[in-house]
Amino acid sequence: MDFHHKRVWITGASSGIGEALTYAFVEEGAEVIISARREGELERVKGNCGDKASKVTVVPLDLTDQEGMKQKVSQVIAEKGSIDYLVNNGGISQRSWVWETPMEIDRKVMETNFFGQVAMTKALLPSMIEHGFGHIIVISSLTGKFGFPMRSAYAASKHALEGFFETLYFELADKNIRVTMVNPGFIRTQISVNAVTKDGSRSGQMDANQEKGMSPELCAAKILKGVKKNKKEIIIGGKETMLVYFKRFIPPLFLKLARSASPT
Ligand SMILES: NC(=O)c1ccc[n+]([C@@H]2O[C@H](COP(=O)([O-])OP(=O)(O)OC[C@H]3O[C@@H](n4cnc5c(N)ncnc54)[C@H](OP(=O)(O)O)[C@@H]3O)[C@@H](O)[C@H]2O)c1
Repeated sequence: MDFHHKRVWITGASSGIGEALTYAFVEEGAEVIISARREGELERVKGNCGDKASKVTVVPLDLTDQEGMKQKVSQVIAEKGSIDYLVNNGGISQRSWVWETPMEIDRKVMETNFFGQVAMTKALLPSMIEHGFGHIIVISSLTGKFGFPMRSAYAASKHALEGFFETLYFELADKNIRVTMVNPGFIRTQISVNAVTKDGSRSGQMDANQEKGMSPELCAAKILKGVKKNKKEIIIGGKETMLVYFKRFIPPLFLKLARSASPT
């Protein structure tokens, strides 16, 4: 299976995993709609697609502006028709302790990572149902499986995605619409640099964990492989992914390792 004649919409495509997914889907013949807030960066990604750039449409949007997003989705569907694959990827991380994090930061992270993905999905679902096919790919995180220091709102937003989209997986079972959850570990992107801190500013720091992490290109290749196999869950990364299995099967070992892990 490849993605020829398939229409894919990727959020958070201006950088990191979303950018790498754009190149991977375009390479496999898909027509790709790319979104994020920074239009200039989206145009750069489109330009990097070379002779396949005509297959890429830039649609800037802010995941926290859910009304604006709904209108853009309606416009795109009216122009192009139904979307086959939605990759809910856009998001922000966090670097702050619970006791110093104001509620507005918790809300900002939830609004972007959770409600943004939910709103995008709800905007696209009716046309997928009408069309009789769709595949929703949700970029969660290992922190969708367990908590991690300095990531309280981030881990909460990713846990919320797991509950919401597992429910959707069951609800869509008889509608030929698939849901795949992706749980990356450490991937070498700007996620820690862009992470929000207690005062709302960017952390500006590349974490050692991220720097040593898997390349976004390899991560994207593994996502495509899992999507082609219609996997319900794809866990990607290095040895940190073992924590998921330790938590499930050897909880005391999970607690020991997670307690001693560096938050940055
Ligand atoms: N890298 C990792 O180690 C890792 C691990 C687990 C999960 N993840 C998840 O992977 C996804 C992609 O992150 P990344 O690692 O590729 O980080 P990244 O390089 O910082 O990319 C994040 C993307 O999200 C977009 N974004 C952020 N806020 C947005 C908003 N309000 N509206 C629209 N787009 C927004 C950014 O674009 P603009 O700034 O242009 O809007 C950017 O394209 C995230 O959901 C993240 O939680 C990453």
